Amino acid sequence: MKILAIETSCDETSAAVVEDGRRVCSDIISSQVDIHRKFGGVVPEIASRHHVEDVLPVVDLALQEAGMTLAETDAVAVTQGPGLVGALLVGVAAAKALSYAAGKPLLAVNHMEGHMYANLVAHPQLVPPFLTLVVSGGHTMLVDIPAYNEFRLLGETKDDAAGEAFDKIARVMGYPYPGGPEIDRLAQQGNPQAIEFPQALRHEHSYDFSFSGVKSAVINYLHHQEQIGAGYSPEDVAASFQAAVVDVLVDKTVRAAQACGRETICLAGGVAANSALRAQLSAAAEPLGMRVLAPSARLCTDNAVMIGARAYYQWQRGDTADWSLNADPRLPFTGGRQG
Ligand code: KG4
Ligand code: ZN
Repeated sequence: MKILAIETSCDETSAAVVEDGRRVCSDIISSQVDIHRKFGGVVPEIASRHHVEDVLPVVDLALQEAGMTLAETDAVAVTQGPGLVGALLVGVAAAKALSYAAGKPLLAVNHMEGHMYANLVAHPQLVPPFLTLVVSGGHTMLVDIPAYNEFRLLGETKDDAAGEAFDKIARVMGYPYPGGPEIDRLAQQGNPQAIEFPQALRHEHSYDFSFSGVKSAVINYLHHQEQIGAGYSPEDVAASFQAAVVDVLVDKTVRAAQACGRETICLAGGVAANSALRAQLSAAAEPLGMRVLAPSARLCTDNAVMIGARAYYQWQRGDTADWSLNADPRLPFTGGRQG
């Protein structure tokens, strides 16, 4: 079963061919990061226009790299949401046209479920059950995956996503978009105990997160230091901020895994590339007999491979879309809230 998958939810135009949800036959990503960097973040209108220009050439490259024609694909999958509406629409329109032209089924994928399923590609032996921590520029959620096609949302952020906080703080410190990797790099040279930033909801029983408080506290600290002419150490700020975020993520993730009786924790989303998060989560989980897995950096950030992987399991249960398919920028997560 070879699925041609398309992802255009934000600023990467990506297409891939994935066989049986696990084997990557091709993987093409055209990133717009350099274009949006000038503006300090993604400009939705510019993203849509670039998707329009790039989507069909990127699909052609993905088919070429897989050594097949459109007629040889078994289905066409696309990210339906969540994401930027104009960006999503380009992918959905392209996928509908391609699936109609080829006479192949159309599969509509939830972007967040795609991030989680990237782990199935990265780890060929991995099978549910496992717990996932999804941390990206737009979302932060803890999701239990008891079986294929089953998702139980345990908790999520009440305000900013973890990646959003990384990006905002890097921007205020004068670093280019996306700021997460910069903070990660700076933090490696800094003291995580240098400045105490708030860790909202850390000791609350729920699995929800809140990162707007730590974000504001860091920004206030930076402004205050400038106002009194004291300056600051970017390394110490990065390390202290990162520790405040990572400690909460690690605490709640390990607690959730224990509560669900899971032995495998999978990271997903762009912030899963963060070195402190990976190291601290492993250090906390391994002594408890749990293992921590994460996809490669390429599979952590937005890509079509994960969409093709997720789509395969939808296809197995006959969950195909029809021609009325529309992009949904706020596509709800199918797992629902489980407390
Ligand atoms: O999953 P993703 O590519 O896009 C969304 O769906 O949001 O995630 C992008 C986010 C950005 O906020 C970026 O700064 C962050 O992932 N990120 C990192 C690291 N690498 C990427 N954050 C912290 N540490 C990193 N090493
Ligand atoms: Zn994403």
